[in-house]
Amino acid sequence: MRVFLFLFVLFLHISLQSPFMHKDSTYRINVYTFNKTLEFTDRIKRIDALEYLPFEGTVSLKRAQHIFCLLEDYGTDPNNIPDNPYYVYFGRWIADGQRELIRSHSVKNRHFIGNTSMDAGLSFIMANHAKVKENDVVFDPFVGTGSLLVACSHFGAYVCGIDIDYNTIHGRGRSSRKNQKWRGPDENIRANLRQYGTEKMYLDVMVSDASKSVWRNAALFDAIITDPPYGIRESTRRTGSHKDIPRPPDAIYLESHVPVSLAYHLNDIFTDLLNFSAHHLVMGGRLVYWLPVYRPEYSEEMVPLHPCLQLVSNCEQTLSSHTARRLITMEKIKEPQEFDSLAHLADSRFRPYQGHNAFREKYFSGLNKRCGKEDNKSDVNGE
Ligand SMILES: C[S@@+](CC[C@H](N)C(=O)[O-])C[C@H]1O[C@@H](n2cnc3c(N)ncnc32)[C@H](O)[C@@H]1O
Ligand SMILES: *[C@@H]1O[C@H](CO)[C@@H](O)[C@H](O)[C@H]1NC(C)=O
Ligand SMILES: *[C@@H]1O[C@H](CO)[C@@H](O)[C@H](O)[C@H]1NC(C)=O
Ligand SMILES: *[C@@H]1O[C@H](CO)[C@@H](O)[C@H](O)[C@H]1NC(C)=O
Ligand SMILES: *[C@@H]1O[C@H](CO)[C@@H](O)[C@H](O)[C@H]1NC(C)=O
Repeated sequence: MRVFLFLFVLFLHISLQSPFMHKDSTYRINVYTFNKTLEFTDRIKRIDALEYLPFEGTVSLKRAQHIFCLLEDYGTDPNNIPDNPYYVYFGRWIADGQRELIRSHSVKNRHFIGNTSMDAGLSFIMANHAKVKENDVVFDPFVGTGSLLVACSHFGAYVCGIDIDYNTIHGRGRSSRKNQKWRGPDENIRANLRQYGTEKMYLDVMVSDASKSVWRNAALFDAIITDPPYGIRESTRRTGSHKDIPRPPDAIYLESHVPVSLAYHLNDIFTDLLNFSAHHLVMGGRLVYWLPVYRPEYSEEMVPLHPCLQLVSNCEQTLSSHTARRLITMEKIKEPQEFDSLAHLADSRFRPYQGHNAFREKYFSGLNKRCGKEDNKSDVNGE
């Protein structure tokens, strides 16, 4: 609620009042309250109290040119509603917040879901952070069941993605629904878009490893939006082969040798993601992704940087007292040079997730705390 409210209120600071108050205009004032219901007479009182504002137009309840809104916020505790609001906001209505999308696109009623499907509200927020607009091309390198593509296609973008998991891309294997054992024949990302009427925005998805780019060297995407795996609910893997694993002797097999998977360390995931974005975003294009953090040790310096990407915003979603994920938004400000990626790799400031395993252990200990499990190891790592 806060996020959308904020969007609404912001305009007060950026628009001039006078064009909306002059004497040829018509207007109306609406009163909204959060966590308190006001009597009609109280609403009228609130409106009367705004008398001192320089309204020169005439009131029109039915067909006002300008709608002004007074919002009173009585907090979030329904058992402890104060007499006076904590915050009062006043502004001109410019657009509805589209909060109904959260329900209409709820993962609960989605055709194809997985264990880590991103919820609708957050997916739309990510698309907004990326400034996704009509005819953009959006890419998700860890596409999963395509929740982020669903949100971006709603805003008119053409969408595509890759995932290392064959079953996810092909919509096969075990279902993530409690009462269903196997996925149905049409459970896939394309069907999700069809469900919301955006199938024509579907480019394609393919099985591919994000750590091994298969794209031609060009700025292909207006936005890259993703929720990388960090091994909490899915494995972090990439393709590769260990030297000590004997390859098939037949030379023909060498080419088609199916590589065994290697662990994909968090640090490398973010380094690759930023490098990939620097190369494949259009100028001004945005990267939006989630960064897991262990809260007691988090500092802003831990957010991975890249010389071609400017940090635009960094928002926290707390998951427990010790863990959180941060929604990172970056914008491409210059084309990468040969020199950039080398300097970038040498500078430790750009590789803050080096101690991958230490980080993961702490992160998990934080999760255990949330579940309230008596876990002795977590106490050691904890405070
Ligand atoms: C957190 S999930 C993404 C969920 C997705 N946002 C959704 O709504 O379903 C991360 C995905 O990354 C995939 N993945 C893991 N390692 C990968 C790799 N090296 N390359 C590409 N995808 C990978 C996993 O199979 C998983 O589907
Ligand atoms: C008060 O706020 C809480 C938290 O946002 C919400 O769950 C509850 O429904 C609200 N109650 C009313 C009466 O608006
Ligand atoms: C989802 O998680 C459950 C329980 O952790 C696991 O058994 C199942 O295989 C997972 N499903 C998928 C599709 O990854
Ligand atoms: C950065 O990305 C480009 C294009 O995907 C690739 O050619 C290059 O090898 C990558 N550099 C590093 C250091 O990974
Ligand atoms: C945790 O530690 C307590 C003493 O500090 C011990 O009594 C208990 O058995 C331990 N529990 C586990 C699961 O190791």
